[in-house]
Amino acid sequence: MKKELHMLPPSPPLVQAGLDGSPPDRRSSTPPPLPHAGHLVHLETFGCQMNEYDSELVRALLKADGFAFTEDRERADVILMNTCAIRENAHNRVYGHLATLKTIKRQRSLVVGVLGCMAQNLKEELLDHESVVDLLAGPDAYRRLPGLVREALHKHEQGVEQPSMAVDLSEYETYQNVMPDRTQGINAWIAVMRGCDNFCSFCVVPYTRGRERSREAQGILREAERLIAQGHKQITLLGQNVNSYKFQDWDFARLITAVADLPGIERVRFTSPHPKDFPAALLDAVAGHRKICKHIHLPLQSGNDRILTMMDRTYSRQEYLALVDAIRRRHADIVLSTDIICGFPGETDDEFLDSYRTLQDVGYHETFIFKYSERKNTIAARKYPDDVPEAVKADRVCRLVDLAKSISLRKNQAMIGKTVTVLVEGDSKKSSAQWMGKSDGNITVVWEKSTPLTQPGKMVSILVDQASVTTLFGAEAVPSLAHDSPSRR
Ligand code: SAH
Ligand code: SF4
Ligand code: F3S
Repeated sequence: MKKELHMLPPSPPLVQAGLDGSPPDRRSSTPPPLPHAGHLVHLETFGCQMNEYDSELVRALLKADGFAFTEDRERADVILMNTCAIRENAHNRVYGHLATLKTIKRQRSLVVGVLGCMAQNLKEELLDHESVVDLLAGPDAYRRLPGLVREALHKHEQGVEQPSMAVDLSEYETYQNVMPDRTQGINAWIAVMRGCDNFCSFCVVPYTRGRERSREAQGILREAERLIAQGHKQITLLGQNVNSYKFQDWDFARLITAVADLPGIERVRFTSPHPKDFPAALLDAVAGHRKICKHIHLPLQSGNDRILTMMDRTYSRQEYLALVDAIRRRHADIVLSTDIICGFPGETDDEFLDSYRTLQDVGYHETFIFKYSERKNTIAARKYPDDVPEAVKADRVCRLVDLAKSISLRKNQAMIGKTVTVLVEGDSKKSSAQWMGKSDGNITVVWEKSTPLTQPGKMVSILVDQASVTTLFGAEAVPSLAHDSPSRR
């Protein structure tokens, strides 16, 4: 059956994909057949910051090929979902969306594409998904996406029900010359590396994103300069394990310092470092450079040595605690956050209590707590039965969440009476009469609007007078020279 597609007048191609103004690399995409240019695409993003960044790449690549984007999924000819595979609930969200799209597809013409980590990992299952999916593209295949979308649109018009697919992983792809199409904002992400070689036994990322590779340092710096010129105040450098960044004689400490030294930048953040190889030079950079935020996300995963070994994390509880100690001795104000998994295969209650106690001992400002979720093809899925009952996992998560909340509240309450420097991001979630921003240590701060001089992108001093588990509240201290990170470079 021939399906009618919503046509727009072709829009001029946006040549935004070239970092240096050059068009994107189109070697692998077919030449643009004009009738498809200008189709409306709606893109939804699930998962981590790396996926947010990848969606910006996808927008750039498709726009450069003549596609236009809409926020309104009702108007879209093509709906793309950039998906996450990290845990079962991430999958379920995507399957839930696919079910909705199936209903929409019965009512009107629509091409549905699945991108990202689920596309990579679950090609067979997704394609079985009652033929809702017309297109699959993994994280290393986005340069081919314009061609794939056009192919899928063409097949759709012809009534051919055969999905278009590109799910090969690459050892080299870093999207080096693609300038992401960023939505306006204070922060901009830059992925400095892709993939992961750590193979933590529970984790699917090495399978969905392939081998670790670092992007050329000069390209990252040029992109950062351009972001600053466009008005971004904060840059967050991304990688699954930034400590293993390596490009010629550049390591991550040198890279982040070079980004933080660029004129006009206010703040640089990064995520995530792996505790097994946290270099002294990176700690020096975080502690000593006033533009590098005093916040380290240091995923613990478990506080028990037997479980850490089964997870293949390659550090012990003692080694982790020694690192925390070294961080705090180097700079007492560095804010720490972490990730913990409850109910890894074989985890006994005593072993869980080691995680509980480690949380108490370290006192993280923020803790992300996850129920173990068996992931197809991972080492843990092959070696260890997922034998902790669901109710036990849920109970452990609740106990840890209660503890983590009480620690966060205590830490935030200790900030009352202090002045923090905040980068203004925008209106608070609750009211347009309030601003919201982040402290240097990445804590959310909310305060009443009191002066028209304060605008998103500005740094302001806030005197904290109240605290909740997640937020500091206060008032603008005018004038104030106080700073929550006393070190200056
Ligand atoms: N590369 C990052 C982690 C990215 S995934 C790092 O190593 O810091 C984010 C978090 O998801 C992990 O730190 C882990 O706590 C959690 N996670 C990953 N796989 C999981 C699984 N199978 N079940 C439950 N949580 C998981
Ligand atoms: Fe997954 Fe471990 Fe790699 Fe993080 S470091 S992405 S947890 S394999
Ligand atoms: Fe990120 Fe999820 Fe993939 S956490 S790397 S989008 S599996």
